[in-house]
Amino acid sequence: MSIRIQPSILSADFANLESEFASISSADGIHVDVMDGHFVPNLTFGLPVVKRMQEISALPLDVHLMIEDLDYWAVKYAELGVYSVTLHFESVKDVAGTIDAVKATGSRVGLAIKPATPISSIEPYLSMVDQVLVMSVEPGFGGQSFIPASIQKIRDLKSLLMEVSPSTWLQVDGGISAENIQAVASAGVDTFVAGSAVFNSDKPAESIARLRALAILGAQA
Ligand code: DX5
Ligand code: ZN
Repeated sequence: MSIRIQPSILSADFANLESEFASISSADGIHVDVMDGHFVPNLTFGLPVVKRMQEISALPLDVHLMIEDLDYWAVKYAELGVYSVTLHFESVKDVAGTIDAVKATGSRVGLAIKPATPISSIEPYLSMVDQVLVMSVEPGFGGQSFIPASIQKIRDLKSLLMEVSPSTWLQVDGGISAENIQAVASAGVDTFVAGSAVFNSDKPAESIARLRALAILGAQA
């Protein structure tokens, strides 16, 4: 199983994004948290800023949309040419239609669920998406603690994916650290978002290498 580490730029220095991007060049992608102050109680940046990120980034951008009106906005982000666009199930009205519209741009598409949203709610869409994102904190802020119940949710989702859509990536976001990444990998995650664990470290490249090595160990268990 391939392991992917995607640092979240939510914990980076927004005044120096170009050098922050360079500091994580050994990562597999950059996780970009778009928040609108409505779907989540925090506000980050929107389309023009993601457009510039896409222009300067050597790494694939994994855009995580925590916003309202996804049926309208998701395609706008996908049309920037980003690598993947992830929709929150709780915020999209026409789930299948919006998934198809994102895919039609050539971007990969993901479906995210908040901690309280059951796996059963997204079961009909699993074979339509390239990745599923399990939020292991309430979306909105970096630096929160991993919710332990996420482990069982990941295990259950992994076994379901193995039945219905084995090529779909299983991604986790929230509270991932060197302390827990091995256990989370052994539960079935292949794609890890890590914000504070990478950017709050003096040596982001070393943190990425450490997280990757531990995740590989966990995946082998
Ligand atoms: C939270 C965001 C996360 C956040 C993760 O809503 O979706 O991507 O940046 O940060 P850490 O890894 O610090 O929990
Ligand atoms: Zn995120």
